[in-house]
Amino acid sequence: MPDPTESGRPAADLIHAAGPADAAWWRHAVIYQIYPRSWADADGDGIGDLPGVTARLDYLKALGVDAVWFSPFYKSPQADAGYDVADYRDIDGLFGTLADADAMVARAHELGLKVIVDLVPNHTSDEHEWFQAALAAGPGSPERDRYIFRDGKGPDGDLPPNDWHSVFGGDGWTRVTEADGSPGQWYLHLFDTKQPDLNWDNPEIGDEFESILRFWLDRGIDGFRVDVAHGLIKEKGLPDYDVELHILDGELKPGAPMPPMWDQDAVHDVYRRWHSVLAGYGEPDRILVAEAWVRPQERAVRYVRPDEMHQAFNFDFLKAQWTAAELREVITSSLEAADSVGAPSTWVLSNHDVVRHASRLGLPVGERQPNGISATDPQPDRALGLRRARAATTLMLALPGGAYLYQGEELGLPDSTDMPGEFRQDPTFLRTKGKEIGRDGCRVPIPWQKDAPSLGFGPTEATWLPQPAVYGDYAVDQQDGVEGSTLELYRTLLRCRRERDLGTGGLRAAEGFGDDVVALVNTGQGVPTLVVANLGSEPVALPEGATVVVASGDLTDDGLVPTDTTVWASF
Ligand code: GLC
Repeated sequence: MPDPTESGRPAADLIHAAGPADAAWWRHAVIYQIYPRSWADADGDGIGDLPGVTARLDYLKALGVDAVWFSPFYKSPQADAGYDVADYRDIDGLFGTLADADAMVARAHELGLKVIVDLVPNHTSDEHEWFQAALAAGPGSPERDRYIFRDGKGPDGDLPPNDWHSVFGGDGWTRVTEADGSPGQWYLHLFDTKQPDLNWDNPEIGDEFESILRFWLDRGIDGFRVDVAHGLIKEKGLPDYDVELHILDGELKPGAPMPPMWDQDAVHDVYRRWHSVLAGYGEPDRILVAEAWVRPQERAVRYVRPDEMHQAFNFDFLKAQWTAAELREVITSSLEAADSVGAPSTWVLSNHDVVRHASRLGLPVGERQPNGISATDPQPDRALGLRRARAATTLMLALPGGAYLYQGEELGLPDSTDMPGEFRQDPTFLRTKGKEIGRDGCRVPIPWQKDAPSLGFGPTEATWLPQPAVYGDYAVDQQDGVEGSTLELYRTLLRCRRERDLGTGGLRAAEGFGDDVVALVNTGQGVPTLVVANLGSEPVALPEGATVVVASGDLTDDGLVPTDTTVWASF
């Protein structure tokens, strides 16, 4: 069959070649992130839980996603909302029990949804039995060697061993008191004081994590999202590095030296080992997805070489400014980089660590993107943000590869941008004394029903973070079945993405639309889709004969694609 995109239609350079129609599931999956604290609360304590999730999985099936990724639900003192794990083989009482987890996985599988769990290998909680044993056992002990303990500098050892900062603000080291009451050694924590970094040079750590992987794989889990995947190994000698660290920041500026705590070559040995553990479980593939804040893309894709992880989050796409030039560049370079190692690219616009894209895109273009918005900050333009968010998602879901959705984005939810400080729980806010607002604004419990206690999140009024008054208008029951709602847009996009094989398709640039338009053709598996995202100030025309499949907003009366609107069309 001749390639229909060669037949005089608006198609030009090939950016990415189509994959086979029967490509492995993770090469084109749409994965929905559940932040368990905030999705659905069955027991009414104000914190979401696994029975709440199980009861609502049908909603995700109807939405049309392929898999669900859970932020951590393990036993944890919750100093960093569960990214501080005290027991990797148990569920925190807040979320339920192991039996609840098994029931959730069984229900998901019944519905044909895969389940990916979060794995936090860079650090444990300070309440993990290993850390408690390390404190008790004292300097030089094998127990201490599971973490990164060092003597302090200065005559009394009262200065930290080096000048590393914590990503959450403040020092990266904390001094302990030894069992005899004397001031003791220091331990490294790249995040909160309650998240001591593990010493991955100690073979015991690798063995333990292989065993943890097997524990969850044996329970039927389909994959792992690997937290801070670029951080496990530190440069030998822990050389000084007096630079502030920020979440999702690929530290490497072109030509800059590699920060000694990130992206050390030896991390890849860890992922090769894990790959072979997962491969031992046969088909369908179990997967690893890297949260690695690594630049440039050529280094980032080393995490997804054929014998390592399967996917990595594409934070360059998430961080791209709302300009056609930047989006075109990041789409092209992401696919090129991923193709160079034979991996799928992935796409993501929101997660639990960033301002939701419906709010982010309502801020002025070109400014530094905040990791949280407070009432005293310039407020996003909510209508503009939603319009652009819908256009951005419509562009994203047309791209080949895997895509990640963050709970609530299918409702067009904005961040909570006026949360009083007293409610905030992100350690970033606490450690920087409010200088960094932190991530609570994107973590607010989901509105399911406008006229119900806690907007239907749970059976009581309780919510662990306050829901903004405006959230009622975004509730699922306000959008379900309503033509033009964001929820119905997502459902249509996901259905059409599947029907038109956009996840495995090839991608070409489409020409003749002007600099302010991202115009692409996804070749699908033979039925091409023209994708036009108009970021310019003037409406643009679709080619003659093109028929709109789905649009992120209304077209003009004469059928033009207006500003901040994306259209899929057949032609
Ligand atoms: C990752 C998580 C973030 C967490 C941090 C420390 O970046 O996404 O939420 O705070 O790791 O575990």
